[in-house]
Amino acid sequence: MSATVEEALLTRRSCRAFRPDPVPRAAVERLLGLAARSASNSNCQPWQVHVLTGAAKRALSADLLCAHDEGRRSAGEFAYQPGADQWREPFRSRRRRFGEGLYRDALGIEPGDTAGRLGHHRRNYDFFGAPVGMVLTVSRAPLEGALIDAGLFLQALMLAARGAGLHTCAQASFIDFHPVLRRHLRVPDDHVIVCGVALGYADHEHRLGAHRTPREPVSSFASFYEAGQDSS
Ligand SMILES: Cc1cc2nc3c(=O)[nH]c(=O)nc-3n(C[C@H](O)[C@H](O)[C@H](O)COP(=O)(O)O)c2cc1C
Repeated sequence: MSATVEEALLTRRSCRAFRPDPVPRAAVERLLGLAARSASNSNCQPWQVHVLTGAAKRALSADLLCAHDEGRRSAGEFAYQPGADQWREPFRSRRRRFGEGLYRDALGIEPGDTAGRLGHHRRNYDFFGAPVGMVLTVSRAPLEGALIDAGLFLQALMLAARGAGLHTCAQASFIDFHPVLRRHLRVPDDHVIVCGVALGYADHEHRLGAHRTPREPVSSFASFYEAGQDSS
């Protein structure tokens, strides 16, 4: 039975521990077909998705882990986030709370434990054990608009996955290693690598299985305008 939209929205989370159970190619194709129903500027559909399983995924992960461990980071093809010391409020505080929730509370890694944090972070490059790894790219022409369209596609893919009983994790951590990705994938020169996406069945037994993130209340970000400006 597929989940309602509301159930999919409420149960989607970034899953960072997967079971190895395979996901059939037909199921992945179905999810991608659903995600492709996303809106895009003039229906340009500027996205491409590279789907890796089996030996292809293992080979990419091995090279990414090697590049990560050797510190071979490259400047991103676009700025997904500011430098670590350039975050402004309220995002700096929210980011700190997210880090505490994930590393200290869920994983038991203390703030000063750099090796522990790196040890978790590097699992990104194994797609957190997911059987399917995807890499999302969009056309650069023009990039800002295409990134909006890519975000819609990404969210639709993650919700469609919930509808099929699957979980996902978007992974911007791949951006730092785009030369490695380009060696493994047929990414057109005029495309930008947006992020990785891990896809599979959640390992609910893992200590991260209960990790959830909070949200700000609607009143903190929504403004409602009901009366005319000239009426008080
Ligand atoms: C575009 C994008 C990139 C992300 N990149 C990563 C990543 O590289 N590694 C990771 O563990 N989580 C990544 N996340 C997950 C976010 O940390 C997560 O969405 C946020 O903390 C909210 O938690 P939730 O997704 O569980 O609701 C990414 C999310 C988005 C939307």
